[in-house]
Amino acid sequence: MLTQTIAQYSATDFASEVRAGLTMPGQKELPSKYLYDEVGSALFEVICALPEYGLARAGARLLRLHAEQIVSRLPLPVAVAELGSGTGKKTRWILEALARRQRTTYFPIDISPTALAQSEKELGQIDFVSVVGFERPYLDGLLAAAARRHPGEHLLVLFLGSTIGNFDRLAGEEFLREVRRILQPGDALLLATDLEKPLTQLIPAYDDPIGVTAAFNLNLLARINRELDGDFNLANFRHEVRWDTQERRIEMHLHSTCRQTATIQKAGITVHLAEGETIWTESSHKYQTEEVVEMAGRTGYRCVAQWVDVEWPFAQSLFLAEMQGA
Ligand code: AVI
Repeated sequence: MLTQTIAQYSATDFASEVRAGLTMPGQKELPSKYLYDEVGSALFEVICALPEYGLARAGARLLRLHAEQIVSRLPLPVAVAELGSGTGKKTRWILEALARRQRTTYFPIDISPTALAQSEKELGQIDFVSVVGFERPYLDGLLAAAARRHPGEHLLVLFLGSTIGNFDRLAGEEFLREVRRILQPGDALLLATDLEKPLTQLIPAYDDPIGVTAAFNLNLLARINRELDGDFNLANFRHEVRWDTQERRIEMHLHSTCRQTATIQKAGITVHLAEGETIWTESSHKYQTEEVVEMAGRTGYRCVAQWVDVEWPFAQSLFLAEMQGA
C-alpha cells in the first residue's frame, strides 16, 4: 500500500485541548478523539467483540447482507474513500462487490498508522482492488483522495461505525456539508447511524459487566499521565454512563470519587475536582431513520436507500450528492 503520511495529533494540540477542557467553568470535558491512542484503539476493538455492544456487528451484518444492493445503486466507475477506516474488516464486502464490476481504488483515511497497516493487510489482497492510504484527519484525507480520482470517476465515501454519533448533532450536520463540498454531484456517501433503542439494551453497551468500556474511558487519564506528565490517580475515578433524554445521547463521564487535585506538567495546570464531579469524555447520539433522511436533505444530499438491522436497531443510509444549491 502506498501511504501518505502527516503527523498524528501533536503533543502541543493534546496539551492545549486538555488544558482548555479541564479549566473551563462548569462541566469539565476532554475531547473524545483522544480516547484512541494505541491502548484505546486496542480496547475499542475488544468493545466491538463484546456481546453487549451490538453496534459493530449490526453495521458489519448490514454490509455483508446488502453489499450487492448498495453497490448496484452506485454510479460507476467509482473509487472508494473511507473516513476512519479502522481495520477495514467490514469494508471487504463493499470492495468485493465492486471488484466484481470494475477495478477499484480504495483510499482508507485514518490518523492511526496501525489502523492503515491493518486495513492494507485485510483488503490489499482482494483481486482488482488497489489501496492508497492517507494518514490524515478525515477532511484532509478526503481532499487528497478526491484529487486522485480519475476523470469521470465517482467517489463513494464510507462513514461507517456510526462515528457521526460522536459529533454533536449540529456539528455532525456541518461535517456532512463539509464532505459534500469536496464531492461532485452524483457522488455517494454511505452513512452508518446507531438508532434509538430501549435503555435496557443501550446502557450495557456502554457499561459492560467486565469493564472493558470503563478501561477505555479511564485510559484517557492514563494517557494524560503518560504523554503529558500528569499524576491522575485512576483509583479515584469511576466510569459513569448517562442517557440524556432531551439530546438523545449516551454520555461517558469520569466520576471523581473524592475531592482531589491532579497536576499535568506539560499542560501547565493543576486540576481540582470535587467529590462527585465528572469529566465528560464522549457523547454518542442516537438517531431515528426519518431523521437521517431529513439530515441528508439539509446537508446537500438525497437519501436514496436505507438498510436497518433486524437484531440491533442500526441503519446504513445511502446518500447521493445533489447539485449544489438544488
Ligand atoms: C466510535 N464510536 C461510534 C463508539 C460509540 O459507540 O459511540 C465509541 C464507543 N464509546 C464507547 N464504546 C464505544
